[in-house]
Amino acid sequence: MVFDINSIRSDFPILSRHVNGKPLVYLDNGASSQKPQVVIDAIKKAYSQEYANVHRGLHFLSNLATEKYESVRFIVARFLNVDDESDIILNSGTTEGINMVAYGWAMNVMEPGDEIILSVMEHHANIVPWHFLRERYGIVLKWVDVDENGVIEPEAMLDAITPRTKLIAVTHMSNVLGSVVDVKSICVGASAKGVPVLVDGSQGAVHMAVDIADIGCDFYAITGHKLCGPSGSGAIYVSKKRQSEMRPFIGGGDMIREVHKDQVIYNDVPHLFEAGTPGIVQTIGFGVALEYMMGIGMEQIAAHEKVITEYASTQLGGLNWLKLQGAALDRGAIFSFTMDGGAHAHDISTILDKKGIAVRAGQHCAGPLMDHLGINASCRASFAFYNTVEEVDALMDGLRFANELFG
Ligand code: ALA
Repeated sequence: MVFDINSIRSDFPILSRHVNGKPLVYLDNGASSQKPQVVIDAIKKAYSQEYANVHRGLHFLSNLATEKYESVRFIVARFLNVDDESDIILNSGTTEGINMVAYGWAMNVMEPGDEIILSVMEHHANIVPWHFLRERYGIVLKWVDVDENGVIEPEAMLDAITPRTKLIAVTHMSNVLGSVVDVKSICVGASAKGVPVLVDGSQGAVHMAVDIADIGCDFYAITGHKLCGPSGSGAIYVSKKRQSEMRPFIGGGDMIREVHKDQVIYNDVPHLFEAGTPGIVQTIGFGVALEYMMGIGMEQIAAHEKVITEYASTQLGGLNWLKLQGAALDRGAIFSFTMDGGAHAHDISTILDKKGIAVRAGQHCAGPLMDHLGINASCRASFAFYNTVEEVDALMDGLRFANELFG
């Protein structure tokens, strides 16, 4: 398929609106992406024509909703290149997925004093669940720093392994620096030492084709709302080996076969890890969003974003009053910056907002990285495949204006 940016943009109704009297330039995709019309239509259709609870009924609508919901498992498996769709657990997003690994797997296999290796550029969904284990069960967190370019070298993660290491949990792409992590090399090295790897794909899966068969990780978490789907949708891949080491995390309907006063007989994986009525319509919309992105082609998306990344790197890198955080060669279109001696990140974002440009300012749910960088906030422009080089120019104009005001 030809990558037609105008046609793609016209799929997203919100992109043609104005904000503060200016055409919207939406550069806050790291926080959440916009939704194409097909997803909005699918949500409306699901509620207006196809809605009932799933896995329970023997009536037409329940069967239809179940079929639609279950079809998303196949779609996610195809999106991640996983052979067996039952290795895909549908959930509300990365946060739920990683908490499930913490409570359902880690607590089942770890002893006090065991270690989890984390990179310093994880975002909070891949930090706080592990802090719970540290606080409550005496699990030790070992942190691997980024180098001076904001890169995590696989060797640095692997060198941190000791006989007590039970997990490496690492992002595929930093939500602050845009740095891509060579997760395959980490998985190869960790597997040789018998250490499982969890990959946080919250950002990585949005910007590049993910091939789990090639990466060889044990867990891979994705979130629907960053992938053009509804909020409250997502999935996690769990390898068969780790499934066999897990116990259910959340108890309730759907994850059981029989419940008696003194006995519970559990359902099979993946349902074992999907208790209660799920986000039915969110998940259906998530499937449509993934089909939409695969219809464009993840390689095509990555190629377009590479153009944006190179252009934005050159433009932003040319401003001597702007400090860009991170300089990874393998990187996505996520740029964090501060103005040396100039405006605070929140002031920059407010000025950009007046020009219709949406960016994020603050800590970006990445406290340890901010501590490592020695800053308390940065401004972040995070691009998607529907952004254009002209929108990079709009950002540049907005930043120059902010610098004139504050510089
Ligand atoms: N992790 C999300 C972000 O990067 C919330 O903004």
